Amino acid sequence: MPPPPLLCAIAAVSADGFISKGTGVPWDLEADRQHFRRATQGKWLLLGRRTFDEMQGWFTDHHPLVLTRSRDFQPSVGQAVATVAEALKTAERHCATELWVCGGAATYAEAWPQVQRAIITQVADELGDGLPFPPISGEEWTLLDRHSLPRHTAAEPVAEVITYQRISHSSIFNVSAAQD
Ligand SMILES: NC(=O)c1ccc[n+]([C@@H]2O[C@H](COP(=O)([O-])OP(=O)(O)OC[C@H]3O[C@@H](n4cnc5c(N)ncnc54)[C@H](OP(=O)(O)O)[C@@H]3O)[C@@H](O)[C@H]2O)c1
Repeated sequence: MPPPPLLCAIAAVSADGFISKGTGVPWDLEADRQHFRRATQGKWLLLGRRTFDEMQGWFTDHHPLVLTRSRDFQPSVGQAVATVAEALKTAERHCATELWVCGGAATYAEAWPQVQRAIITQVADELGDGLPFPPISGEEWTLLDRHSLPRHTAAEPVAEVITYQRISHSSIFNVSAAQD
């Protein structure tokens, strides 16, 4: 049996931890749009119904799974799911190696306990308020990679892509076992 898909989250997050002021993504960063498209190309995606509605027409070779409480909702592309567990099972049935959680806030929050990798575009801008992204604590997450995104105009805020991996209990166990 192949292992279940790795649950990854991808988001653009302000310096004070928000992803949106309520509707839409607050920044229009060309380099981040390219990064998001590259990272998710051909992948199985999990999106909340609100984010899916905002992204109508964006999907090409993606496999979107749309989180909704509605039993009647039929997405124009992909399929509806009622839970994160159902999304993971669906992706697994199709032999997907990864499932990418693409927001929004309610969906990140719902999936967060199971997310193993987070690819965050950290934007050097403060929103003050809005829809939050779950906090990433140094005790639970380790930094795998970070690199700056090129700015396409002087008006764009500085941004960098930071990849975090959740520290698994087994790796904590292995470290302490190795120290004994
Ligand atoms: N900065 C970023 O990287 C980023 C990324 C993605 C989205 N966003 C922004 O985030 C905002 C949307 O976030 P949001 O939190 O309002 O909405 P969302 O997570 O995109 O979608 C919310 C919807 O998902 C469904 N849902 C949520 N929790 C559920 C659960 N436990 N079980 C079943 N269904 C569930 C419900 O759909 P039904 O109402 O159909 O039941 C709910 O109305 C937008 O402004 C978007 O632009 C930002």
